[in-house]
Amino acid sequence: MKNLKKLLALLVTGLMLIAAAGCGDSAGSGSASKAASGSGSGGKQITMGFSQIGAESEWRTANTESIKQAAKDAGINLQFSDAQQKQENQIKAIRSFIAQGVDVIAFVPIVETGWDTVLKEAKDAKIPVIVVDRDVKLNDDSLYVAKIGTDSVAEGKKVFNWIDEYMAKQNKQPRSGNQYNVVILEGTVGSSVAIGREAGFKDAMAAAQDGSKYNILASQTGEFTRQKGQEVMESFLKSDRDKIDILFAQNDDMALGAIQAIEAAGLKPGKDITIISIDGVKGMFQAMIEGKSNCTVECNPLQGPLLMETAKKVLNGESVDKLVYVDEGIFPADVAEKTLPERKY
Ligand code: AHR
Repeated sequence: MKNLKKLLALLVTGLMLIAAAGCGDSAGSGSASKAASGSGSGGKQITMGFSQIGAESEWRTANTESIKQAAKDAGINLQFSDAQQKQENQIKAIRSFIAQGVDVIAFVPIVETGWDTVLKEAKDAKIPVIVVDRDVKLNDDSLYVAKIGTDSVAEGKKVFNWIDEYMAKQNKQPRSGNQYNVVILEGTVGSSVAIGREAGFKDAMAAAQDGSKYNILASQTGEFTRQKGQEVMESFLKSDRDKIDILFAQNDDMALGAIQAIEAAGLKPGKDITIISIDGVKGMFQAMIEGKSNCTVECNPLQGPLLMETAKKVLNGESVDKLVYVDEGIFPADVAEKTLPERKY
């Protein structure tokens, strides 16, 4: 009898412990719920293959961090591959994701063209593809399910319109002749962002009432890097030191390199030469606070959360927008000091 009572007591305690453990699980905010939120319709954890182009700029580092952090937060297993600025490495990475049988592929296309074959292979393997940041030019747009990124044509337009207004407001006079001479530091040749930013700038210039006041003196790639930006600006200055009024750098890193070249040539960046660039990274805010640059047009690299959300929706069979642009602002030097503490990248 005594033994039976003991047995019953043990049984009750055991049942209570099991119930408590069950309660802990269902209320849990930890790994159980995270793994569940990072799972597709079949309940298994989602694996995403992601091909990044490299680490050419401060912006790109922020973009990579955003994607890695968002994957962690969403409970998605991220297979990350760095292409070191080579399209062939991206194609190899995508093929290896297909061979592994990942659930979804995402990639930043370094250049616009040359993706049809590999994306067709992904489609044949029934793996959805999400294009991130830059655009692709394909014969068949059904080869990707969504594009998340930035509107580079709009960025180029914002650059010209800001400059045009600024030159008028400041009553700036051309340093030589009767036109403002503009030099352009372009991004990676063949990339949608370099093509789009140039087209946007030129379109806005052609549409402006006083567009003929501007003359594009020189335009060359600085490959989106600080070092190349500096080198190309040095060569612009060698031939046209006393003619350049405006520098449009297609990213902040190239502008930061160019600032060094301008100072070395004995000129004042931001004063003798008006500088505008694209991205909005902290390094550029610092340069603007120091009076060395005039404006940055934002290109938002924090695309990770939207990418993960889109991937989950696609894998759950929900419909998604084919094209989503992230929000972007314009930051002139006079707001830099106030804005810098709020900047996330
Ligand atoms: O594709 C976005 C561009 O690539 C950013 O403007 C630049 O900084 C980056 O390297």
